[in-house]
Amino acid sequence: MKLLAHILCLCLALALAWADEPETEISTVPDRCEGLEMDAVTVNEEGTPYFFKGDFLFKGFQGLPELFNETFAELDDLHHLDHVDAAFIMHYEESPTDHDRVHLFLDDQVFIYFQHKLEEGYPKNISEVFPGIPDHLDAAVECPKSECEEDSVIFFKGHDIYHYNVKTKAVHEKDFISMPNCTSAFRFMENYYCFHGHMFSKFDPKTGFVHAKYPKEARDYFMRCSKFSDESDDVEREQCSRVHFDAIAADSAGNTCAFRGHYFLHKEVSNGTLHAHTIESAFKELHSDVDAVFCHNENAYMIKGDHIFVYNVAAKPYTLLDGYPKPLKEELGFDGPVNAAFVCEEGVVHVVKGQSMISVDMKTTPPATVIEHPIFSFKRVDAAYCHSGGLEVIVGNHYYHYESPMLFATGKMIPEQHKVSMEMFGCDH
Ligand SMILES: *[C@@H]1O[C@H](CO)[C@@H](O)[C@H](O)[C@H]1NC(C)=O
Ligand SMILES: *[C@@H]1O[C@H](CO)[C@@H](O)[C@H](O)[C@H]1NC(C)=O
Ligand SMILES: *[C@@H]1O[C@H](CO)[C@@H](O)[C@H](O)[C@H]1NC(C)=O
Ligand SMILES: *[C@@H]1O[C@H](CO)[C@@H](O)[C@H](O)[C@H]1NC(C)=O
Repeated sequence: MKLLAHILCLCLALALAWADEPETEISTVPDRCEGLEMDAVTVNEEGTPYFFKGDFLFKGFQGLPELFNETFAELDDLHHLDHVDAAFIMHYEESPTDHDRVHLFLDDQVFIYFQHKLEEGYPKNISEVFPGIPDHLDAAVECPKSECEEDSVIFFKGHDIYHYNVKTKAVHEKDFISMPNCTSAFRFMENYYCFHGHMFSKFDPKTGFVHAKYPKEARDYFMRCSKFSDESDDVEREQCSRVHFDAIAADSAGNTCAFRGHYFLHKEVSNGTLHAHTIESAFKELHSDVDAVFCHNENAYMIKGDHIFVYNVAAKPYTLLDGYPKPLKEELGFDGPVNAAFVCEEGVVHVVKGQSMISVDMKTTPPATVIEHPIFSFKRVDAAYCHSGGLEVIVGNHYYHYESPMLFATGKMIPEQHKVSMEMFGCDH
């Protein structure tokens, strides 16, 4: 019933949108937080997810879509702008001229791109490039040797599933009994996802096994939204979402708070208990979308754009200190936006701004910048926090451990990569 009401609302919204502009041919810009069914999903050569919907392309896990012909111009040449059937990025390291190519499928044709440039001779008929694979596909996903025994592509059409061996071109039809019909498929961080409607199921690429806890809502894991459905489990969503965190802070006891969009996840260090809340419920004036947070004395310093909010967090409810929010420049001596902030030794806060780390002495009034270091290891940092064991730096879905802020700023070697969802917050994948 809830779903029906939702569909009705969506139809009404679309009807209204059309009623407003009856003459135009431009289709309504899709909103991924409405629970969209994507046409095709892949990552590009840099690992950025691309979600295709109608004429539009969503890049990454947040933000508005653009017309897909802005990125893949030739898709327009032969076809009226319509939609992409399936997409994947080839994994075939033995053949450098095939590896890392983005494949897009439209009707009976395949377009192959490298760094957004169409490869010579394309588009070609699917039957020519992938003999034995049908036209009008629903979904496709790459499966490297390490995960499928041979470098392969898995194609989906209706209930039919084909394993295509990239090297021998052999096709094996598979019977994946528990698999739903996929409308798009996606490999991300060595996991395989079949999207069906606005839901998804994680599956084993070799056996098609889908765990009973699926399907789940796609937007809970793959989109930054201000609101989620009533059925969404706030803790599980914030624990497992692939959308990067905005900020993470640790208090003196080592309990952590991780902020993402409108929510934050609190982790009790003693027993690992997790709670999720809206930012608004605890930090009303801040509301959402914080850039960096650090704890100093009994206070949480929260930076958003060019402003800093300071809350007393010694007791609940948390209270905003008098005179805040203040311009960041007035408090710390430089403008926003910043990427991350952390306190490792008493009285000194390190702020990551672009590719520099600014260290500020909080013991003087006003606080004074001590030193600014260039950062060599990462182009962009999302969040960072210190605990008794050292510093954890979060970049996208991964985090990296450093012994000290100075080793982070001056080191050129990137330390071992850890998964935020699994290793920091105990999500099972
Ligand atoms: C993409 O399509 C839109 C709408 O059909 C058109 O106005 C625009 O010029 C196209 N852009 C490119 C780069 O082809
Ligand atoms: C591609 O398919 C179309 C339609 O089936 C056919 O007419 C054409 O000859 C094919 N092209 C090649 C190069 O095989
Ligand atoms: C799945 O696809 C098959 C066609 O291969 C179709 O008969 C079946 O109805 C589809 N199932 C659903 C749930 O859409
Ligand atoms: C976890 O620890 C916190 C703080 O010590 C306590 O309030 C909470 O009840 C504990 N939860 C469980 C499930 O043990």
